[in-house]
Amino acid sequence: MKIGSAELENRIFLAPMAGVTDMPFRVLCKEQGCGLVFTEMVSAKGMHYNDDKSTKLTLLDEKEKPGAVQIFGSEPEIMAEVAEKLDRSDAGIIDINMGCPAPKITKNGEGSALMKKPELVAKIVKAVSGATKKPVTVKIRKGWDDSLANAVEIAGIAEENGACAVTVHGRTREQYYSGKADWDIIKQVKRAVSIPVIGNGDVTGPEAAKRLFEETGCDAVMVGRGAQGNPWIFNQINKYLEEGIIIPAPTAEQKIQTIIRHMNMLIEYKGERTGILEMRSHIAWYIKGLRDAAYTKQKLFKLTNKEEIFNLLQSFLLRQENT
Ligand SMILES: Cc1cc2nc3c(=O)[nH]c(=O)nc-3n(C[C@H](O)[C@H](O)[C@H](O)COP(=O)(O)O)c2cc1C
Repeated sequence: MKIGSAELENRIFLAPMAGVTDMPFRVLCKEQGCGLVFTEMVSAKGMHYNDDKSTKLTLLDEKEKPGAVQIFGSEPEIMAEVAEKLDRSDAGIIDINMGCPAPKITKNGEGSALMKKPELVAKIVKAVSGATKKPVTVKIRKGWDDSLANAVEIAGIAEENGACAVTVHGRTREQYYSGKADWDIIKQVKRAVSIPVIGNGDVTGPEAAKRLFEETGCDAVMVGRGAQGNPWIFNQINKYLEEGIIIPAPTAEQKIQTIIRHMNMLIEYKGERTGILEMRSHIAWYIKGLRDAAYTKQKLFKLTNKEEIFNLLQSFLLRQENT
């Protein structure tokens, strides 16, 4: 599949998730056959002011290419300036966030608040597309709320102004991440535009991915929370779509091995202190559903040192084998 000039191996993508889709996790998802990874959203203003933290979030490993870098903001000039910077970076695709529901973002007119301002959407997409030769994509929601479910209109505006693909998360801003995603809105957008449409919302396994393709006609499927602590989901979905086979979940031992690799990569990338703090959430997702997960999680969040976490994981693993 292609998005603009970016050639992708398959149609199953990892969603941008702040605090989740760090570089090590994205690499693990790629290893499991993910077709396209997105960075978490990066502040255009932060990049404009040369904030190191923001710029670091846009860096991609060789193994994740072509990866998408997602930016958020509301000022077309600043967004264009940042797109120009990213034009000289390793970003394979530049994605614009028009879906974030968090008040600290929407109160500045950014994220999903943009869906209330179609003219500004046009200006932003035009400015960003005009500032880079890289494909530009836009990630939207169903709308702001049920009285303003304007995904079809916003997707059309994005297409007219140079977007090469649009992702539709089938929830309104009012819903945040709760309730069921409305896949019908994805189908409506697919019918209305000619650029690729990426369907998103509630894909938690292979069967759901297949259904989303079938029910909406979307060109690609984006997996969010279903991938937390579960990079194997990409291999599972691909195998199911290609061969109709359901691959069993990894064993506890495979999970622990992956956790340790992830932790080492995260420490290398972010330093020991931040790496460990951020890894604790990942570990809680990885071990969810296994024996003694709740008890282990409680202990885990008190630990700040790699050795202690390693020991906790070893005794956790022993308890799995003893069942
Ligand atoms: C913890 C978390 C962080 C997220 N961060 C972002 C983000 O940075 N940018 C974005 O466009 N969407 C973000 N999202 C939304 C997801 O990309 C996705 O649209 C949403 O989770 C719905 O997909 P799902 O039902 O498969 O989880 C985030 C979601 C979660 C749960």
